[in-house]
Amino acid sequence: VPLYVQLSGALRDAVHRGRLPPGTCLPSSRSLAADLSLGRNTVINAYDQLVAEGYLAAVVGAGTRVTNLPKGALSASSRSLRTGRGNLSPGPSLSERGKEIGATGRVSAKPGRRAFQTGLPALDEFPFALWARLVASAIRRPDPSILGYHHSGGYRPLREAIASHLRSTRGVQCTADQVIVVTGAQAALDIAARMILDPGANVWIEDPGYLGTRGALRAAGARLLPVPVDEEGMDIEHGRACHPPPRLICLTPSCQFPLGITTTLSRRLALIEWANQADAWILEDDYDSEYRYEGRPLSALQGLDSNGRVIYAGTFSKTMFPALRVAYLVVPDRCVDDFRTAIRHTGQEAPLPLQAALAEFIDRGHYAAHLRRMRRLYAQRQHRFVELCEQHLAGYVSLPPRDAGMQLVAYFEHPVDRERLLAEADAQGVTLSTLGPLHLDACRRDGLFLGYAGVPEGEMETAVRIVARAFERQRRAPRD
Ligand SMILES: Cc1ncc(COP(=O)(O)O)c(C=O)c1O
Repeated sequence: VPLYVQLSGALRDAVHRGRLPPGTCLPSSRSLAADLSLGRNTVINAYDQLVAEGYLAAVVGAGTRVTNLPKGALSASSRSLRTGRGNLSPGPSLSERGKEIGATGRVSAKPGRRAFQTGLPALDEFPFALWARLVASAIRRPDPSILGYHHSGGYRPLREAIASHLRSTRGVQCTADQVIVVTGAQAALDIAARMILDPGANVWIEDPGYLGTRGALRAAGARLLPVPVDEEGMDIEHGRACHPPPRLICLTPSCQFPLGITTTLSRRLALIEWANQADAWILEDDYDSEYRYEGRPLSALQGLDSNGRVIYAGTFSKTMFPALRVAYLVVPDRCVDDFRTAIRHTGQEAPLPLQAALAEFIDRGHYAAHLRRMRRLYAQRQHRFVELCEQHLAGYVSLPPRDAGMQLVAYFEHPVDRERLLAEADAQGVTLSTLGPLHLDACRRDGLFLGYAGVPEGEMETAVRIVARAFERQRRAPRD
């Protein structure tokens, strides 16, 4: 730390602590420099700094004096300097909303672990060398428009690429104008909730469901109304019987998170019909719809809506890698300008150079090729994973058949000490999570929620055996 900064710090401290009371005349810079064996410029710089900050005043002919600062403020700050704890009071509290958001738990992933973290794609299979070239070239020869505040709502070529991808693969009805690029589907959920909900608004959410959705809705002050999920998707009849009409219905119709159920066409139509009656919004989170292993995927719900009440969210986290932090919303025409402005105000714009690289990645066909490869790979991994579970975990869990997604549910066959199971697997390097925390209402059927897509086949068997041993130990010594 430069000497003049040390000196000004010591003098400032002395003012705060009252050792240099207001009005005190400081020695001349020459004599203080001689006393402290410092250069005169060091003292002059320190004095100048404190004059600029308002601690000292230099009066021509009268030297440099400590100014008259308010007593109370000085003594309060000197107390906090003494205790080193800031104010003696615990400090202002968070808002009720802030506390609620903080209390919405999140499963935190451990870096470097693959089995059986949820939500992770096959990171080892992503073409990083190719991606690095595209990012480098976007930066090396930047189009000046990607270095400023242009492209509100997202880089135009990327929005065009996304719109065309969504129209052809997801049946989403949209133009590039309706696509808003944001920093992750989480940001998409957050901005959508803030834009369409007033505090206290009723929102139907899937139960069990994604914690991030709950967090975003809470941040918007929504009233969360859990609606159970059956084999056809969100049970709307239950919602109608138990809850007031919603302002918003949030769901993951392509591959319900976490149960992996695809909402049937008749349920989708009923949902749209009910939203029309209730004049409600629908937020369709299509986070991993690309991964369907049998038959053709059902088109997005958004494509069935003719009243502009569906907001559609998709992400590159599952098709590329989560740290990319690029996702998108498709919003009805009438809201486009407001959403574009909103993402500027909330600071949720994805970096433009990355958006430019991504547009190239899609336009040159690399994205579609990577998706095709991953679809085949995840189908194989799912098949192998189910085989291993049947081989090693029979009697402990049962897996309902699923043909989509990146993770599977394995229901417990018997009551289990979950904490112990999770801790034992964790100690052996395997991450397990359960369905319980994903429920808002009581969890009637608990089980494991296992991500397999990011686990190479070579690591899978060892990891499944670790889980099997953890179950086995519990069976042998139930109250260990
Ligand atoms: C259902 C669901 N929605 C949204 C997200 C958020 O995705 P992103 O990484 O784009 O924020 C996830 C991530 O796991 C998810 O599982």
